[in-house]
Amino acid sequence: MRKPFIAGNWKMNTDSHSGPALVKALAAGLANIDRGKVDVAVIPPFVYLAQVVNAARASGISVGSQDIYFEQKGAFTGEISSNMIKDVGCNYCLCGHSERRHVIGEGDELINKKVHAAINGGLLPILCVGELLEERQAGKTEEVVERHIRKGMAGLNAEKAEAVTLAYEPVWAIGTGKTATPQQAQEVHAMIRGLIAELYDKSFADDMRIQYGGSVKPDNAAELMQKEDIDGLLVGGASLKADDFLAIIKASIPA
Ligand code: 13P
Repeated sequence: MRKPFIAGNWKMNTDSHSGPALVKALAAGLANIDRGKVDVAVIPPFVYLAQVVNAARASGISVGSQDIYFEQKGAFTGEISSNMIKDVGCNYCLCGHSERRHVIGEGDELINKKVHAAINGGLLPILCVGELLEERQAGKTEEVVERHIRKGMAGLNAEKAEAVTLAYEPVWAIGTGKTATPQQAQEVHAMIRGLIAELYDKSFADDMRIQYGGSVKPDNAAELMQKEDIDGLLVGGASLKADDFLAIIKASIPA
């Protein structure tokens, strides 16, 4: 069975006090939870990563970055490499979050280079995929998600692809309060698993974790997680409140 994986993407929020305090509150809230039953990660802004790693020490909470650059070092002003993220004690990074795709303008080829760089640098990438509202309305959800995955994972053999977690985040559900219904999410997740089976094989696809993201809250987490192909959650706004994020984590643990 796939172990649930709940990650909190803090986006451009928190500061040097509230970030470490948030992770300490999460650590305290998770103290009595069987950590064999759920993986938890927080994804703060770059500048607070080291402090949050420090605050998370011995809690079993992993830390990840919201992005990386695909080169490892050199004249790339303003960029951060996967080696640097690893060096400060992180083990995950997001690649291709919809805000990077649609606000910053990242394309599939760049995202694919980042996925490779993450794995080569010893990180576990969370590759985010998902359609815009107009793409859903035009019946193009499958086509868009398939393209994000085929291009995002291009050139990864099975050994490398094992490092990847996928996150399906329909863009119309992000920060809008409009969650995909569990059934809508399940349909896309099942399609994704089928595609992964085609690209690798069925047993590989059966082991791959696919998170859902988009307006996840304490009151919809359990229902989403009950779906067969939803193996975790990528939480934005609700991950900034310790109580809400803890409630989401607890709701995700199978009875
Ligand atoms: P919200 O949970 O705020 O909708 O954000 C989802 C998201 O983008 C997580 O990466």
